[in-house]
Amino acid sequence: MLEAFGTLDVFLNSLESSKNVIVIAGAGLSVSCGIPDFRSAGGIYDIARTSDLGLDSPEDLFHLDSFRDNPRPFFKLFSHLLYPGTHEPSRGHHFLRELEHRKKLLRVYTQNIDGLEAQAGVKAVVNCHGSFLSATCLRCRKKYNWSDIEGDVAKQEVPLCRLSSCDGIIKPDITFFGEKVPDVVGRTLIKDRLKADMLIVMGTSLKVVPVSRILSYLSPSIPQVLINRDVVLPPAHLSDGFDLKLLGNCDDIVEYVCRSLKWDLAWGLGSGSGGQHNTYRRPICVPVHEPPNTYHFLLEGEKNQPSRTGLVAAASPEHHHAVVEVVTCDGCNAEIGGIRSKDGPRSIIFSCMECFDYDLCFSCYSMGSNEHIKSKGHHFTRTDKFHKAEGR
Ligand code: OAD
Repeated sequence: MLEAFGTLDVFLNSLESSKNVIVIAGAGLSVSCGIPDFRSAGGIYDIARTSDLGLDSPEDLFHLDSFRDNPRPFFKLFSHLLYPGTHEPSRGHHFLRELEHRKKLLRVYTQNIDGLEAQAGVKAVVNCHGSFLSATCLRCRKKYNWSDIEGDVAKQEVPLCRLSSCDGIIKPDITFFGEKVPDVVGRTLIKDRLKADMLIVMGTSLKVVPVSRILSYLSPSIPQVLINRDVVLPPAHLSDGFDLKLLGNCDDIVEYVCRSLKWDLAWGLGSGSGGQHNTYRRPICVPVHEPPNTYHFLLEGEKNQPSRTGLVAAASPEHHHAVVEVVTCDGCNAEIGGIRSKDGPRSIIFSCMECFDYDLCFSCYSMGSNEHIKSKGHHFTRTDKFHKAEGR
């Protein structure tokens, strides 16, 4: 943690002088556009839980094996909640565009697949969980465009490969659990990691690897700022916490930031198409002492919600470690699952310390034939994860 960085004024001054801000974005950025996030009450996983989709766990919606077995639940919810092209960017998205316009943005690493960063005009975006713009047949790997499958998706039907000899399921190129994130994430991060002069984490619970691991690839000497409705704790072994936490609706927080910096914004304040207020109320900022370096953002006339304080209290250590970790082997492309050991099932993962998201399973590592092991300058560390029960 940077001792000197814990106040809003210091953040605003640093933002004025920053030239290479990295933003890690998540579903909270698009909530005001009408797209629910995943893990909040009423989010996509709650909807999946109560929608009688026949899933063992709501996260199976985005799990490759479950999708192969039965793709219907995914297409049903996808067409209903995430259907591309039907949403408008929020003030949060426009803020990212503004950072870029002012030559302050190095990159947005987004986990969202709604494409709203690009729609707001942001160019330096890495889609860490892929995109719906293209799709691939799971059987013959034939590539398709969104326009090829759009009709089926709109009718909540499963798109099937057009090659009559194939008939495989076509899956949008969104990264599911059990799949590697696109190579561009690691390639870009290697270029960006030493250039970054500030990190802003916005609208994400940081519960999903490898995106949550991005924090550990950045220098600990740069300020790390959270803009989120709830307190989020980065995985303890990756970071010693945020230097500053700005809690509330991210549209209101960025509006406050822009007003404070007297940025004259083409997209206007308090009028972003996503998250419109019927009666405009200016965001105000309330410093809180517990947890330290934290500010709550409310709207004029709004009382501090007890739930907000509750959410702070709810950020318990167990919460801290509840990360969705589905690791795929870069040698054999299989998910690294639990193997039996005398202490119960465990996963053994060898991770390259020099590369982002390069992992090998026990057998691929033991064979030693992997190019990555043989080439100089790559070192692996072994992690043993013990499972309480079979499965995730
Ligand atoms: P989550 O639903 O896990 O977290 C969203 C975060 O945004 C929560 O911490 C909310 O408190 C916060 N939030 C919600 N509304 C907000 C608002 N208006 N302003 C500010 N913050 C708000 O979503 P992600 O972290 O994006 O992956 O989830 C990561 C990945 O998990 C997704 O990309 C998806 C999912 O499983 C895959 O499908 C592979």
